[in-house]
Formats: sequence, C-alpha cells, structure tokens
Amino acid sequence: MTNTDLEKLVDTTDEWIQARTGIKERRVAADGQTTADLAEAAAIKAMAAAEVTPRDIDAIIVGTTTPDLVFPSTACLVQARLGCLGVCAMDVNAACSGFIYALGVADKFIRCGDAHRVLVIGSETLTRMINWDDRGTCVLFGDGAGAVVLEASEAPGILSTHLHANGDFADLLKADGGVSRGFEGHENGGVHVMMKGNEVFKVAVRTLGQIVDETLAANSMDKSDVDWLIPHQANMRIITATAKKLNMPMDHVIVTVDRHGNTSAGSVPLALDEAVRSGKIQRGEVLLLEAFGGGFTWGSALLRY
Ligand code: ACO
Repeated sequence: MTNTDLEKLVDTTDEWIQARTGIKERRVAADGQTTADLAEAAAIKAMAAAEVTPRDIDAIIVGTTTPDLVFPSTACLVQARLGCLGVCAMDVNAACSGFIYALGVADKFIRCGDAHRVLVIGSETLTRMINWDDRGTCVLFGDGAGAVVLEASEAPGILSTHLHANGDFADLLKADGGVSRGFEGHENGGVHVMMKGNEVFKVAVRTLGQIVDETLAANSMDKSDVDWLIPHQANMRIITATAKKLNMPMDHVIVTVDRHGNTSAGSVPLALDEAVRSGKIQRGEVLLLEAFGGGFTWGSALLRY
C-alpha cells in the first residue's frame, strides 16, 4: 500500500508522510493471512539459512502483539505447523520491542542451559487493528515477520541484551480494548491503535539514546566498536537521531522503513534479514539492534555476527 493509496482514504499527502516518517509504502497481509502464516514463512526461511530442521529446535518464542487467537499462542500454532511438538513454545508481548524481548528471553534460555537451539520470531499484522480514518496512525504501520535461529556456542553471538519497560506511559500508545476490559464502543468488536505521536516521538529519541550508552558501557565498548545499527523501523527521524548518537554514518544503518513502514515486532528481524542476505554485513562485525514501543517497552541486543 503506497502513500498515494492512503491519500484516497484520509486527508494526507505523500510529501507529508515521507517528510515526517520516511515511509513510502507498507505491506498489508492478504485477506485471511494471519500473524501465524507470516511467522511460519519466516521460520522456514530462517531454518533453511541456519541449515537446521524443526527437529533440531528446542524452543519457539514469538514476539507479537497481534496474535491469531487469544490462546493458544501464535508460537503454539507455528509449532504445530512445523511439527516440532513437545518443545517449549510461547509468545512475548512487548509491542514494537517484541523481537528484542524474544531474543533476550531466548538468549537467557540458552545461557542457563535449558535450550540449545531456539527459533525466535517477530511477526505482526498490525494493519488489522488500524483505524483507517485516523491519519495520525494509519499511515505508519504495516505487516511483516522475520526470524532467526539462535544456537548455543562457545563464541558469542549475542554479547548482551538489555530490556526495559515503563508502564506509566501506557496511555501514550495503546490498542484500547481487550478480553478483560471488553470491547465496548469498538466498531465490529475490534481494537484500534491509538497514539499521541509527538509525545511518543520525544520519549523514544531520548530513551534510545540512553540505551545506546547503557549497551556500550555494559560491554566496555566505544561507539566506534559498533559496525552496524539495526534499529526498529518506526520513523526515519528517530533512526537518524539514534545513528547520530552513535556517530554512525547512515550507510551503516539498515533502513527498511521506507518500504515496510512500522511492522512492530517484525521490523528488527526484517531489517536484519535484509542486511544479512544483501551481503552488507560481514562475519565478525558488531551489530546493535534496538527497539522502542508500546508499554513503553524498549531494549537492545548487541551481537557479533
Ligand atoms: N497527514 C497530514 N497531516 C498529518 C498526518 C498525516 N498523516 N498526521 C498528523 N498530521 C497533522 C496533525 O494533525 C498536526 O496538525 P496540526 O498542527 O494542525 O494539529 C500536524 O500534522 C503535526 O502533527 P504531529 O503529531 O505533531 O506530527 P509529528 O511531526 O510528531 O509526526 C508522527 C507524527 C509521524 C506520528 C511522529 O510523531 C512519530 O513518528 N511518533 C513516534 C511513533 C513511534 O515511534 N511509535 C513507537 C512504536 S509503535 C508501537 O509500539 C506499536
């Protein structure tokens, strides 16, 4: 769906969307296509890249805030399709930070010895809860999924993960409705993403700057030790601000927001996938992955590829 397509739905322009967000187009899942469908496709590609089969996987963790069902979890639905029955499978809901959270949980599972090979997926169909009459949100989001296979090894790998949340900011960015509170007042029983965009923007820039400092300090690293920034793809201006904080030239920042929009938990693994498959990232290089989202939640993963 292009910005021009959106001009037909709400009072907006391609110029406004590109100037304020950097987004040119986003993908919308086909009718009937679900978060588990996208997750399964990403999982199959990740396992092929890692040269493993479902039988080699001993845990599945899916970062998502748009599950197919309230339960079973999307991870269980994907597990049944892949056929690796019996292993641990769970969803992690941390909105746009979902993949970083899932990666952090998987890393801990491996470090403590409970798992050897974890399938980590970020998958979302956020367009399913967009109010297409709200120009403040409908231009921002898209659907997508990405996945990695994380494996125990003597050589890291993941150098660190840092996960944070501050529930005091819950009202600035939320999907207002749910099983327990009910869906009253929502058209067709659906929920919609609601966001005070400019307030989210300010906190996001400040917080992502802080997590860069925290991550580097925890690893006794300098900004110049990081080779690539793989940020959550919410807004080009937020990405640029984080790159500036790292003194990172923009040709070492992976950007997909122009084509994908904000795919929430899908965004970081999609960007990582593009960076790896395009051959941009070389073995041994240090990558900083970061994300910020509803909750507020935020986090980072520093890794050596
Ligand atoms: N087209 C044209 N005009 C618009 C649109 C649009 N699509 N949307 C808003 N406007 C108008 C507003 O009504 C406002 O008009 P006014 O001045 O007459 O009141 C004006 O543009 C400025 O609005 P702001 O909200 O101040 O614009 P801003 O520069 O902040 O950009 C944006 C908005 C793009 C949403 C930005 O604030 C942003 O990216 N915020 C952060 C989003 C984010 O990172 N979310 C976290 C992850 S999402 C998750 O966790 C699910």
